[in-house]
Amino acid sequence: MKVGIIGLGYVGLPLAVAFAEANTDVVGLDVNHRVVEGVARGESSVEDVPSERLAPLVGERIEATTDHARLADCDAVVICVPTPLAHRREPDLAYVESAGRSLAAVLRKGQLVVLESTTYPGTTRDRLLPLLEESGMRAGSDFHLAFSPERIDPGRTDHTIRTTPKLVGGLTPACLDRAAELYALICDDVVRLTSPEAAELAKLLENIFRSVNIAMVNELAMLADRMGIDIWEVIDAAATKPFGFMRFEPGPGMGGHCLPIDPFYLAFKAREFDFPTEFIELAGKVNLHQPHFCVEKVVRALNDIGRPARGSRVLLLGVAYKAGVGDLREAPAIRIGELLRELGAEVSYHDPHVDELPDLGLRSLELGEALSESDVACIVTAHPEVDYERVVAEAPLVVDFRGITRGIEAANLVRL
Ligand SMILES: NC(=O)c1ccc[n+]([C@@H]2O[C@H](COP(=O)([O-])OP(=O)(O)OC[C@H]3O[C@@H](n4cnc5c(N)ncnc54)[C@H](O)[C@@H]3O)[C@@H](O)[C@H]2O)c1
Repeated sequence: MKVGIIGLGYVGLPLAVAFAEANTDVVGLDVNHRVVEGVARGESSVEDVPSERLAPLVGERIEATTDHARLADCDAVVICVPTPLAHRREPDLAYVESAGRSLAAVLRKGQLVVLESTTYPGTTRDRLLPLLEESGMRAGSDFHLAFSPERIDPGRTDHTIRTTPKLVGGLTPACLDRAAELYALICDDVVRLTSPEAAELAKLLENIFRSVNIAMVNELAMLADRMGIDIWEVIDAAATKPFGFMRFEPGPGMGGHCLPIDPFYLAFKAREFDFPTEFIELAGKVNLHQPHFCVEKVVRALNDIGRPARGSRVLLLGVAYKAGVGDLREAPAIRIGELLRELGAEVSYHDPHVDELPDLGLRSLELGEALSESDVACIVTAHPEVDYERVVAEAPLVVDFRGITRGIEAANLVRL
């Protein structure tokens, strides 16, 4: 068994390692030479895959390449390329299409092709299939085609690729069987769906569910702020209900490659059906406003101690989009930094996972120095390595957007 993986990023690299660790040979292909050279040296750029885990597999089980011809002798090829948004929040399928075209040129009879990139229902059938069939072969008979969404959550260790059920939707029953067989090598539980479209939409449902609930609790946080009620106490209280409630927390806004982007793939597709997806749009609007609300909180906190934002030294604590990782994609800290600068504040940051923040032209400062040289420290992302008691003790003023300081009482502390 040999599996080709197209795109060796946050999704493709862990998948390559999972197959290799299940004693399957892997051809890892990426168009980015730097990525391929890194993998070939056994160096991982994905935090969930330590280089110590990758290195012994490279050469033994994993071959990294930029050459599509190397995919020709794979039994299955899995596509894990980006699906970003283009202008006006419309899907950009250029990476999927480019991967599909390159694969069509080397596609061989009997191969299975699986798309894992998150996308709107119909992409596998309407966009990828025609490109692959330009090879002259027919899906379902000459080759097989399926969609199987990636459910990875960077930084999470309690659920792995093996223990997270894998959704699979095939173009035909035979396509489904082939794809289910493939993923049974690395997943304990493979869930069979009747079509690629159902699998595509299931992934979007998961992400939209989170986006809408985060927006709802963000909106309540703004209201609670105005009413003078502690939102964290309210959430803790509601979460004591043993049924019918699921905890979501407010924060500085949504980040990462998934939640700020994927829902708009569905909103776009829905327009073809004359269907306005109002929950998606509203959630996007509320979550996009959240960095503005956070900045307003900082300005008010400074005002309360008699300082204007202009000229104040503001430290952002944690700039990655979530705790425990160094991923800066769509990170709300960047927008917060920009908004503070527009007000004339001097912005700096400390993040144990991010050495450099090119969007703001900054480098991470050492924590002690950062705290002593700021007028206010804003906890944007609550990385577990940071000692928050120390932050509250050493910073003149702390504004906490994550509720990580719950349990600490101090006059210089303000929470979302
Ligand atoms: N990151 C996540 O947490 C996550 C979780 C679930 C699903 N997804 C989805 O998985 C897909 C991939 O996301 P990612 O985070 O791994 O992206 P990524 O940017 O980390 O990696 C994608 C890789 O694909 C390569 N690439 C681009 N075009 C290519 C082509 N034509 N041929 C070969 N390689 C190509 C890029 O060089 C890059 O290394 C997206 O659709 C995303 O929405 C991501």
